Amino acid sequence: MRIIHTADPRAGYLALKTEIDAAIARVLEGGQYILGETVERFEREFAAWLGVPQAVGVGNGTDALHLALRALDIGAGDEVIVPSLTAVATVAAVEMAGAEPVLADVDPVWRTLDPAQVAGMASPRTRAVIAVHLYGQPADLDTLGRYARASGAVLIEDCAQAHGARWRGSHVGTVGAAAAFSFYPTKNLGALGDGGLVATADAGLAERLRALRQYGWREPQRSSEPGWNSRLDALQAAVLSVRLARLDTANARRRELAGRYARGLEGLPLELPREREGSEHVFHLYVVRCADRAARDGLLAHLAKAGIRAGIHYPSGVHEQPAYRGRLRAGSMAATERITATALSLPLYPELADADQQRVIDAVRSWCGAGR
Ligand SMILES: Cc1ncc(COP(=O)(O)O)c(C=O)c1O
Repeated sequence: MRIIHTADPRAGYLALKTEIDAAIARVLEGGQYILGETVERFEREFAAWLGVPQAVGVGNGTDALHLALRALDIGAGDEVIVPSLTAVATVAAVEMAGAEPVLADVDPVWRTLDPAQVAGMASPRTRAVIAVHLYGQPADLDTLGRYARASGAVLIEDCAQAHGARWRGSHVGTVGAAAAFSFYPTKNLGALGDGGLVATADAGLAERLRALRQYGWREPQRSSEPGWNSRLDALQAAVLSVRLARLDTANARRRELAGRYARGLEGLPLELPREREGSEHVFHLYVVRCADRAARDGLLAHLAKAGIRAGIHYPSGVHEQPAYRGRLRAGSMAATERITATALSLPLYPELADADQQRVIDAVRSWCGAGR
């Protein structure tokens, strides 16, 4: 039985193999393997595609958040509000910058940061709010932006799961003071290894980020301030340039597959993802919710027997992870805990064939149809 995975980065590579192999060969023959012209070209292309003046390539999405916070002078003594329902990386990056993450709950329907919870968790030490566009769904940037402006905090966007998503017609990543992207291979725009990027409209901030990603250098061999080593390598940038040119088409296919799931799973006792009015979801993940934990675990096992590897994003909120439990200030986590107990991510990636998706739909229907 052929296994269907939640995501399949190898299929993404094979779909563009000739072009990607040629782009890699050009870098290998060119001899510049870190930063340089290939990275600069990708940064220009990404900035133009996104609709911001500045894009700074870094080593991964966690570093993109970490260095964005550092460049904004957010660190020791400062609090940063983040959702607990996110990749642990969002929270880790805040601690890497020396600041304290404060965990807030998400909205139960949209699954992104709940602005009312954010306001409730704020303190005089709040310096930033990180809006995570979870699963490809834009967070409520209007309300979070208003809150940030009124309270003197900055809004940072975590776009690791949402390359190409739109909020009121504009790409996510163009609203906050800075936006962090990850190019982990399964992302909507994925490299063949690690990669990340910070987008911003602020040229001064971008200049500081370029220094911070390389030992604080503003000129070679001269550290103007302490920095780190977090550079995008040229092989990844070359791959990303090839894939960026197809990103809108790939996202359109993700949205088409999401529409087919919505029709195929209609009427079952599952809560399906919804698209917020005025926004465009890019379905990095297609996360359904079952009635309770037992139903979710039962469906997961049933799909596994049918050769379908569904995922769970996430098995727990960050507030329940051993490294963070009881250590961070956290609000009520009612929605986060309901979602983590019942969520299931069905396979969805641009190369997923209609027939394979139908196999998933049939397997879900057969489980639910058996009276569960
Ligand atoms: C929401 C979110 N933020 C941050 C990251 C961190 O990205 P990376 O794995 O490239 O460090 C990820 C990816 O795992 C993510 O999904």
